[in-house]
Amino acid sequence: MFSGVDIDNCYNIAIKLASEAGEIIRTAIGKKKNVQTKISNVDLVTETDKQVEEFLKNGFKAHFPDHCFIGEESATAIDFTATPTWIVDPVDGTMNFVHSFPHTAVSIGFTVEKEVVLGIIYNPVLDKMFSAIKGRGAFCNGRKIEVSSVKELSQALIISEVGSNRAPEVMEQVYENFTNITQKAHGIRIIGSAALNMCSIASGEADGYFEYSLHCWDMAAGKVIVEEAGGIVIDPEGGPLDLMSRRVICASCPEIAQSLSKELRHLQMPRD
Ligand code: IPD
Ligand code: CA
Repeated sequence: MFSGVDIDNCYNIAIKLASEAGEIIRTAIGKKKNVQTKISNVDLVTETDKQVEEFLKNGFKAHFPDHCFIGEESATAIDFTATPTWIVDPVDGTMNFVHSFPHTAVSIGFTVEKEVVLGIIYNPVLDKMFSAIKGRGAFCNGRKIEVSSVKELSQALIISEVGSNRAPEVMEQVYENFTNITQKAHGIRIIGSAALNMCSIASGEADGYFEYSLHCWDMAAGKVIVEEAGGIVIDPEGGPLDLMSRRVICASCPEIAQSLSKELRHLQMPRD
């Protein structure tokens, strides 16, 4: 129980809805997509993003009429309160989805008193269901997952993203950080889904991840999954993560998180 919330019931409903949402994505990924653009010509949305969000919004409202809902495709001014809240990205990795690149996922975070206590990230193409409840460990398809034992940036595989913001000052900072971290780390990867990047840290497949232009729905579920797998999720300047701050570092251990924090040039994003 978290402040009177029956977390097991929330988990069971969210897993069921994530599986059904995944079925919608799995069916649609092989078909022709109707693609529109949002803040830039590489910030994409499809009818599937909207359909999955509607499906999840209605599903959570039907089961939990007192809870709040924040979703990527319907959010306007975000009012994030202590009330139990579902924070949803219906399709994280829309660019991948559009190209049928199989790294795309539905991401469902659940907060109580502004703390993420439940996270579910489902990649329906590869059929990988990641989940965590605060205090109970992190799992992939029911099997417990853990972060890697890598402790040094020089030995670490780091993930980051170019994102979908093409403002010159943002691009400059992204490439400056890529150049620096490429020289300091073992390797660097771009995969195209913030939520799945966090699952890679939680699974021990990679050791650190940073990004500056993302949103609360990209990282809410991943936060608790990484933490429950033994990792750390912080603000890039070293303090606690602020879900609405549009930026994140997560890592297998504090040493790598702090090394990234020290090496990166930070950018302040307009808040969610
Ligand atoms: C995007 C993906 C991408 C990340 C962007 C996100 P979307 O989410 O997670 O990897 O770089 O910051 O906005 O638009 O595919 O839901
Ligand atoms: Ca999305």
